Amino acid sequence: MTIRVGVIGTGNIGTSHARDLAARVAGASVTALYDFDTGRAAELAAELGAAAMPGYQELISSPDVDAVLIASPDQFHAEQALACLAAGKPTMCEKPLAPVEEDARAVVEAEVALGRRLIMMGFMRRFDPGYLELKEQFGPDGIGDPLIVRNAHRNEIAPYGLDSALSITNAAIHEIDINRWLTDDEYAWVQVITGRSGPLTPEGQHDPLFLLLQTTRGTIVEVEMFVQSQIGYEVTCDVTGGLGIANMTDGRYVSTAAARRRGHSLPPQWLGRFRDAYRLQLQGWIGSLLSGGDLPGASAWDGYVGAMTANRAVESLRTGERVPVVLPDRPALYS
Ligand SMILES: NC(=O)c1ccc[n+]([C@@H]2O[C@H](COP(=O)([O-])OP(=O)(O)OC[C@H]3O[C@@H](n4cnc5c(N)ncnc54)[C@H](O)[C@@H]3O)[C@@H](O)[C@H]2O)c1
Repeated sequence: MTIRVGVIGTGNIGTSHARDLAARVAGASVTALYDFDTGRAAELAAELGAAAMPGYQELISSPDVDAVLIASPDQFHAEQALACLAAGKPTMCEKPLAPVEEDARAVVEAEVALGRRLIMMGFMRRFDPGYLELKEQFGPDGIGDPLIVRNAHRNEIAPYGLDSALSITNAAIHEIDINRWLTDDEYAWVQVITGRSGPLTPEGQHDPLFLLLQTTRGTIVEVEMFVQSQIGYEVTCDVTGGLGIANMTDGRYVSTAAARRRGHSLPPQWLGRFRDAYRLQLQGWIGSLLSGGDLPGASAWDGYVGAMTANRAVESLRTGERVPVVLPDRPALYS
């Protein structure tokens, strides 16, 4: 049996996911594509032998589409995810679930009303071998419980333009999610600290940004978010535990030594660093649909918590104050 996937949004990541599904994910095929830019969708459709659809509704309701992958820009995710829920189709939605928490909440409410989980969030770091190995170090036989987690997330250039709120709702949302997952904990508060900006930061914006969060059990989470760092794409995570430390310094890059220099290259953007995580995430999704087992990875609830925490962080960006993160009760569907 094959899960026939329709992909909405065939830009950078949508094209990468569609090619992975077509060639590198067992049990999947790509049958339909839609992009606001119809020429772009048609080109990829010709490459993959899929149909280019006239709209996302047509793609979702197509009898040739068993499951949907949403990779359109952030502000369309919630609306398109709601349409997938209405059609009863399993959906992998790229992060964030929505830039605005109320839109993310509407998706959770629709899924709870439906009574079954259909949405998996594209927080692919949960599938990344580097983060998985890092988390394995926790516990009494390793570094103990995490006390302080230091994260850096650096892009070479701002992928969608430099807007400080977007740096949080689009980019630092990865750290918001992965640190909840790493610590198995919820946040109690968040504070965004702005300071001296880099040379490419436009007037009125802040880059880098520093996010400080504390979980309900007291773990301190720091995030340096630097979208216009110019150095390349780099994600690091260093954990101080009660019994030791663990560093996910540079993922799994090969280090070379030559001409009296030792080091490794950095990819220009995320597709290089997280190539395995994207493919493993898709394989996990398709595998669960084929077996009828539980969806792996992040849920719509995780997407909502991420969006809500990011919104509290944007509030802190504006006020400079520490902002409490208060979660509503978790619906039983996600327990
Ligand atoms: N998980 C990750 O690491 C990761 C990495 C990159 C991007 N993303 C997410 O994926 C999404 C797409 O990012 P990207 O870098 O591919 O952007 P992109 O700009 O390269 O591609 C977006 C595509 O969506 C199309 N589009 C615009 N409006 C649309 C609509 N209403 N319906 C369907 N398509 C529409 C555009 O024409 C474009 O082709 C974003 O939400 C981003 O946050 C996630």
